[in-house]
Amino acid sequence: MKTIGTIVLIGYLACLASPAAALSGEQADAQRTARMKWWTEARFGMFIHWGLYALPARHEWVKQHEAVTDEAYEQYFEHFNPDLYDPKEWARLAKNAGMKYFVVTTKHHEGFCLWDSKYTDYKATKTPYGKDLIKPMVEAFRAEGLRVGFYHSLLDWHHPEYPIDRFHPMFNNLEFREKAKGRDIRKYAEYLHNQVREILTGFGRVDCLFMDFSFPGENGKGRHDWQSEKLLKMIRELQPEIILNDRLDLLDVPGGWDYRTPEQFMPREWVTMNGKRVPWETCQTFSGSWGYHRDEATWKSVRQLVVMLIETVSKGGNLLLNVGPTARGTFDDRAKERLEEIGRWMNDHSRAIYGCTAAPDDFAPPQNCLLTFNPETKRLYVHVLEWPMGALHLEGYAGKVKYAQLLNDASEVRYIEESRSSEVGYLPGERKAAAAANLILRLPIQQPNVTVPVIELFLK
Ligand code: GLC
Repeated sequence: MKTIGTIVLIGYLACLASPAAALSGEQADAQRTARMKWWTEARFGMFIHWGLYALPARHEWVKQHEAVTDEAYEQYFEHFNPDLYDPKEWARLAKNAGMKYFVVTTKHHEGFCLWDSKYTDYKATKTPYGKDLIKPMVEAFRAEGLRVGFYHSLLDWHHPEYPIDRFHPMFNNLEFREKAKGRDIRKYAEYLHNQVREILTGFGRVDCLFMDFSFPGENGKGRHDWQSEKLLKMIRELQPEIILNDRLDLLDVPGGWDYRTPEQFMPREWVTMNGKRVPWETCQTFSGSWGYHRDEATWKSVRQLVVMLIETVSKGGNLLLNVGPTARGTFDDRAKERLEEIGRWMNDHSRAIYGCTAAPDDFAPPQNCLLTFNPETKRLYVHVLEWPMGALHLEGYAGKVKYAQLLNDASEVRYIEESRSSEVGYLPGERKAAAAANLILRLPIQQPNVTVPVIELFLK
C-alpha cells in the first residue's frame, strides 16, 4: 500500500510541476486519486434537497408531475418562510450520524435559488424569509468538520430562456410551447455559467460539485446545450481541488468527471468504466422522494440503511444519504430517528467504514456476511448480517489471521483452524478436502446488541 501511496504522490507532484504538459492516462488517474483521497476515506455524506417543493411536500418533481404552471407555483415562493431553520442543528445531526461531507441543492430543477444570486430574483432573499440559506449552512457544517458540496441543477423550469424539453412541466401544453418557441439556450447557458461561477467563488473552498443532469437526444439536453466543456474548464479553474460528478454529459472527455453516481439502486459490484474500477458514490433516499414528502410511507429501516452503507463500502463506493428538510426548516422525526440510530452504530463501528474498501480478492465473504477492508491497518471487517449458531466458517482464511475481536466491545473472538479440528460444522468424517484451510470463529450464542455486529480480523 505504501508503494501505491508513493506513486500517487509522485504522480501528483509531477502534475503540479508541469500543469501545461498533457497528462498520460495513468498520471491523470494518480492525480485524481490524490485529489479524492479525503473523499474515498470519508465514505459517508449527507445529501440535502431543499427548495420551494418542500411546501407542496409531495416530491421535488411536483411541478413536472402535476404540470403546474409558473403562476400556480408562485404561491410556494410567496409562502416560503422556514422560520425554524437552524443549520447548526442540521450539521450536528449529520456529524453525529458519522457523515463527513454534505451536498446541498443550491438550485433544483424548479429554478429556485437558495443563495443570494445577483442574476435572478427567484431566490430565498426575495421570499418572506428574506435571508440567504447557503452561507450559514456552509459555515455550520464546516464548523462541525464536514466538507462542503453543492448540487446544482442543469435543468431550470422557471428560467424564461430555458427551451421546453421532454422533462419540462409544460411539455404537453401546446399553447405554452408555441409561446416559448423563441427561447434561446445560449442565454440560459450564460445564466447557468454565471451562477456556477457565483457558487464557486462566494463560499470559499467547495469540495464537491454535483451537476444534475443531462439527457441528450430527442427533446433532450446535453453537453452542447449546457456548453459543458466550457463549464468544466471554469469549474476546474475556480476550484482546482474540487471533486466533480458525472452528469455533465462528458463521460468520454478526459477529466470530465471524477466519480460515477448510481442513483437509488445498489450496484451489483464495484462500478467500472472500460473494465476499470472507478470511484463511485450512490445517492439514496430514506423514502423514495428527495424533497420533503409528507405522505410517503416507504421509509427504509435503520437496519436497511446501515446495511446499505456497509454494502456500498464493501464494493468500494461512497454513500450520499438524503434528507429533505421541511418548509419550516427542520428535519422531520423520521429522518432524525434514523440519523441518530445510524450514528449509534457508527459510534462503535466507524472503523469498519472510514478508510475502508472492498476486501482483497482472496478473501471471500462468509455466509450471510459482507466484508470491508482497511488497506492501511490491514484489518478485515466481517459484517454479520444473520448471527450464526455458535460458529462462523471463513473458507480459505486459515493462516492469514493473527487476532480476532468483536468490534463493538473489543472482546476476543477465539478461533480454530480447520486443520486442527475437523468436527465443527461437519458430521464425523464428512470434512471436504477443500475445507482444509478454513478458519472457524467461535461466536457467542447471543448476538451483540447492535444493528449489525462486526468482527475485526487483524491480518498477518
Ligand atoms: C435526479 C432527479 C432529482 C434528484 C437527483 C439526485 O436526477 O432529477 O430530483 O435531485 O437525481 O441524484
